[in-house]
Amino acid sequence: MTPSAMQFISPLTFQALSGNPVHTELFDTDDGCMNAGGRAMHGAIAEENAMGHINLARWADALVIAPATANTIAKCSHGLADGLLSTLYLAATCPVYVAPAMNQAMWNKAVTQQNMQKLKAHGVIVIGPEQGDQACGETGFGRMSEPAEICSRLLAEPKEQFLKGLKVLISAGPTREPLDPVRYITNRSSGKMGYALANATLKAGAEVTLVSGPVMLTAPVHADIVRVETAAQMYEAVISRASKHDIYIGAAAVADYSPVVMEQQKIKKQAEQTTLTLQKTRDILAEVAQLDQRPFTVGFAAETHDLEAYAQDKLARKKLDMIAANWVGHEQGGFDSEQNALQVFWANGQKTLAMTDKNHIAEQLISLIAERMETKKA
Ligand code: C5P
Repeated sequence: MTPSAMQFISPLTFQALSGNPVHTELFDTDDGCMNAGGRAMHGAIAEENAMGHINLARWADALVIAPATANTIAKCSHGLADGLLSTLYLAATCPVYVAPAMNQAMWNKAVTQQNMQKLKAHGVIVIGPEQGDQACGETGFGRMSEPAEICSRLLAEPKEQFLKGLKVLISAGPTREPLDPVRYITNRSSGKMGYALANATLKAGAEVTLVSGPVMLTAPVHADIVRVETAAQMYEAVISRASKHDIYIGAAAVADYSPVVMEQQKIKKQAEQTTLTLQKTRDILAEVAQLDQRPFTVGFAAETHDLEAYAQDKLARKKLDMIAANWVGHEQGGFDSEQNALQVFWANGQKTLAMTDKNHIAEQLISLIAERMETKKA
């Protein structure tokens, strides 16, 4: 329990209700906890008083921080270790789950969202928060997920490493097509979906190469990251690697057109109207699918209308194994959003993945890809 937690409930109440020891201090003079029953596990911890926090971190199969305040999230994401909880987080080698709980404005604050991105990039599994009435009287995102929901997410993990031994190549983010030394054409892709897919794929045990356009996200620690800027650079990075991979997921929003000429000097403001000449970029996804040694190839389709028709057309025309289609320009989901819903199509089937956070939907999509690969092999 942190000092703030103890403002709400006393350690004695927590110990009595749970029947377990309660740890509160980083450096305790005794065995480091309120002891309810002197269990065997606890004796082992007491043997090494000075390193109690390290033992505590190593003993657990999973670390769950619930409720996780904005303060705790900020500390963990920056590697501060000034209390028992933040030290435990830093010393833990097991899977870590965080269930945020805070006022909606604190949750929506850019710095909190950046800290959450960092935690996710470090492999932390985020549960919630939920939307609804808050203790402070406001309404919005920030309610801690129900304990039953937290338990069910814990029990659902960790899935077996069903992609162990496989190599997965993922493209993410937008591209930038330069017009002159100071200007470029780009799009609203944040890269969040591709980065969430990289994390989910790593969790499933695969080796991941992430070819990323310019984004404001922290790269997954265990992925091999290749940073590119233009569609042409992304093409080179992907095509030169694709045959050495088992799966390619094209989640990047690659520019369809690029300026024919990149001016060496800044274009000056002169005429009332001006015209840019653009040329089509090479379709990376379609070319990966044409390779002799092609990986299982998965595309994305972001559409503002006729979602299914366009997705089915891309699946067939680009000769993909699977395509994940999502709406853009709607109130929820799509570009630069924390959430997404996907309609996934393959040769003779489809599945709808309902609106949820991008990490969760990425895990569902990765499971589906593994399932379809097995079927294709069979
Ligand atoms: O045809 P459209 O651009 O809508 O297809 C989207 C899919 O194609 C995405 O998976 C995207 O990564 C991929 N794509 C590509 N190279 C391009 C354009 C799109 O790989 N030049």
